Amino acid sequence: MKDNSKTFYITTPIYYPSDNLHIGHTYCTVMADAMARFKRLQGFDVRFLTGTDEHGQKIQKKAIAAGVTPQEYVDRVVAGIKELWATMEISYDDFIRTTEPRHMKRVQEIFRRMYAKGDIYKSAYEGWYCTDCEAFWTDTQAPDGICPDCGRKIGRASEEAYFFKLSNYADKLRELFTTTDFLQPQTRVNEMLSFIDQGLEDLCISRSSFDWGIPVPIDEKHVIYVWLDALSNYVTALNYPPADGESTELYEKYWPVDYHLVGKEIVRFHSIIWPAMLMSIDEPIPQHVLGHGWLLIDGGKMSKSKGNVVDPVKLIERYGVDALKYFLLREYTFGSDGQFTNEVMLNRMNFDLANDLGNLVSRTTSMIEKYCGGIVPGPGKEEGPDAELKEMATGCYKLVEAAMDKFQFNIALEEIWKVIRRTNKYIDETMPWALAKDPAQKNRLDTVMHNLADALRIVSILIFPFMHTTSSKIREQMGIGGEPLWKDVQIFDMLNGQVAHKGEAIFPRMDVAKELEELEAMNAAAKAAAGIVEEPKEEPAEVEPFKDLIEFEDFEKIDLRAGTIIKAEKHPKADKLLVFQVDLGSEVRQIISGVAGSYTPEECVGMHVMAVVNLKPRMLRGLESHGMLCFGCDLKNNKFTFVGADVPNGQIIA
Ligand code: MSP
Repeated sequence: MKDNSKTFYITTPIYYPSDNLHIGHTYCTVMADAMARFKRLQGFDVRFLTGTDEHGQKIQKKAIAAGVTPQEYVDRVVAGIKELWATMEISYDDFIRTTEPRHMKRVQEIFRRMYAKGDIYKSAYEGWYCTDCEAFWTDTQAPDGICPDCGRKIGRASEEAYFFKLSNYADKLRELFTTTDFLQPQTRVNEMLSFIDQGLEDLCISRSSFDWGIPVPIDEKHVIYVWLDALSNYVTALNYPPADGESTELYEKYWPVDYHLVGKEIVRFHSIIWPAMLMSIDEPIPQHVLGHGWLLIDGGKMSKSKGNVVDPVKLIERYGVDALKYFLLREYTFGSDGQFTNEVMLNRMNFDLANDLGNLVSRTTSMIEKYCGGIVPGPGKEEGPDAELKEMATGCYKLVEAAMDKFQFNIALEEIWKVIRRTNKYIDETMPWALAKDPAQKNRLDTVMHNLADALRIVSILIFPFMHTTSSKIREQMGIGGEPLWKDVQIFDMLNGQVAHKGEAIFPRMDVAKELEELEAMNAAAKAAAGIVEEPKEEPAEVEPFKDLIEFEDFEKIDLRAGTIIKAEKHPKADKLLVFQVDLGSEVRQIISGVAGSYTPEECVGMHVMAVVNLKPRMLRGLESHGMLCFGCDLKNNKFTFVGADVPNGQIIA
């Protein structure tokens, strides 16, 4: 029986080894790593799983194009992925490959059990099929023969196949979404419920048109479709289902998983198909599935063909692992998409790491050397700002724990940085250089240096899950031995007599403009080497002058609320208009907007929008609109103004 108070099991998706991974992929793994390290620091018995999803037609095609066998192909890419995780110091406990016998035999057993339950049947499948995404799509999903995921033109396909009776589990799944916090953020729940309400179609779980997959155990002509194969990794890596005589220890200890971290586009597979599979084999379902947003470049997904894929290794070579991890965890909000730009990254690194943390470490160690002969003094009489500093430093762990409970890495780090900034301010307030000039102030100087050192000791523990090398460097410069312990973040006055020394700057300051130029030059060279021709940049559109100033009272009249589009349709009488049903928390409103030229109705469902809800209703071509959604007016690139996914519907925006 899993004991949630002792064990913690966290997973990333298993990545396709079709190509090298980019910074978007590392985002999820870095979050999982930080959480795993945090839980270990808190004393949990942690299991952190990652791996690779190696079967399917796409990989088979890539291997043929490269003139090697699929196994040779994946072996090479997987070696690169493992090297990347080693470079990034990812602390996984297990790495599962779907081509490993330990996985393959167990997936076959899961198939057998689902079949024995009567949940699998043979039929013919016909539909739109995208070979790149390895996905069949229904007519509603791909109305114009365009893959809704990758946007490529796709064709019809039909084949004999095995199906999983997903429809059997619709009621149980609905109950799961409505009675538990299984899926987060909450806004994804509405998307999944509307998906179930549209009617769950049975799922095609085998293929016979290619053979790079796990053979269906009851029919060797078929291979198991990748999602059934891939999703099973989370239990096969725990040796489930066990063969006769095999140990069930891992499974019993860690299952059901605490958190599956997944990107938003694969939430559906993890929160509908995966639980239904587990229900079919009568096993407990995951405790939580968390869907995170994407890192975007120029508002879109990174893609090799556009040549805008950011290589994490290049950034690590220039700035170090910890700086990159810090940036990813600090800059983005879990659940929402975020823009990646070099400028934002460099400024973050410069301000937070070089200025705030780097400066604090070098100032503290050099003053201990200069004023205390390199020996950290013991505690002394409390005066002036001492109490506030101590309170902030020792109270921070509670705020970090609360944020980490919600996977708000950015907030956890912001709280830690408040302590760092407060400690820097403490130096300016206490002015040790002035105290040093007056021998009568020797005790006060020692106390100030002790407080600084002790606050920094606490910081070194608080940052450990996010940047453990930096933590070790600080502890080494401060002469603090031993592993950081979480219980020590609550106590002040632990240091006395440590031998400190000023080491190398932990984060040297950068010339951002120069760095930006160099990164751009590197990027251009990589694009040229890949034969990608830059499209000429469009002239910026003429900007409308700002409107006249208004009084605050005028602004206050506008009632702006957060909402989620739960239904979208074309206006039957106007090509440019879409008719939305917007969930505003307390009610669902019909709002009509002129964005049909930029979005299909399907794309809009689930969008988090900002709505003016106190506009007088207007008839638009025979239908009433009760408000207005905010979006940019650039007709070519109409963009809704999104609100964060974690803002509840109905919340006032001010
Ligand atoms: N193999 C499947 C997952 C199977 S899990 C049982 C798969 N692989 S993937 O390599 O295409 O994507 C893996 C993860 O990387 C997904 O969660 C996806 O959202 C994430 N990302 C890929 N590009 C991303 C960004 N640009 N930003 C953030 N995450 C992104 O899907």
